[in-house]
Amino acid sequence: MNPNRFSSKLGVALALAIGSVSINAYAQFNKPQDAIKYRQSSFFVMQQNFARLAAMAQGKTPFNAKEAAEYGQVASLMARQPWQAFGPGTEGGKSLPLIWNENAKFQTASKNFIQKMDALQAATQSGNLDRIKAAVSAAGADCKSCHDAFRD
Ligand code: HEC
Repeated sequence: MNPNRFSSKLGVALALAIGSVSINAYAQFNKPQDAIKYRQSSFFVMQQNFARLAAMAQGKTPFNAKEAAEYGQVASLMARQPWQAFGPGTEGGKSLPLIWNENAKFQTASKNFIQKMDALQAATQSGNLDRIKAAVSAAGADCKSCHDAFRD
């Protein structure tokens, strides 16, 4: 086989593989309203689980390691969901136009946030309340800074 052809095929395969790990591929929705509902619902379920962890971290509810691990799992799963529903033509809800006008910033913020939520999940798996406290406040800072910039 011609080695050049081989390496160009390899290049295409690599590009496809890298493309497919992109977390911000947009999903298809029947109508823009469905995308808005999808992201708001994802945020809602994430927030419910995050709030339970925050309550434990703040000592407002008793710490339960098993429950915390479950909340951490759901929260990190849901933290991956909203971004696929911010595709072109889905402006609306409480989302500011800046999300579409300066999309690279929004994508960076969402990717950094997923990492924070993964760290939170890891902390909940460890069963160490101090780790959970630190991870809750790190992720919580991201909620606030993104909402300040991108949410009405
Ligand atoms: C990278 C940006 C970003 C991050 C990080 C983020 N959000 Fe949001 N959030 C948004 C945007 C944008 C909306 C508005 C969605 C819409 O209505 O179109 C939103 C909506 C919501 C909603 C839906 C209900 C409402 O009042 O708008 C909740 C609940 C929510 N976010 C909670 C959270 C929590 C809790 C965190 C952190 C654990 C968080 N979000 C992190 C951008 C973000």
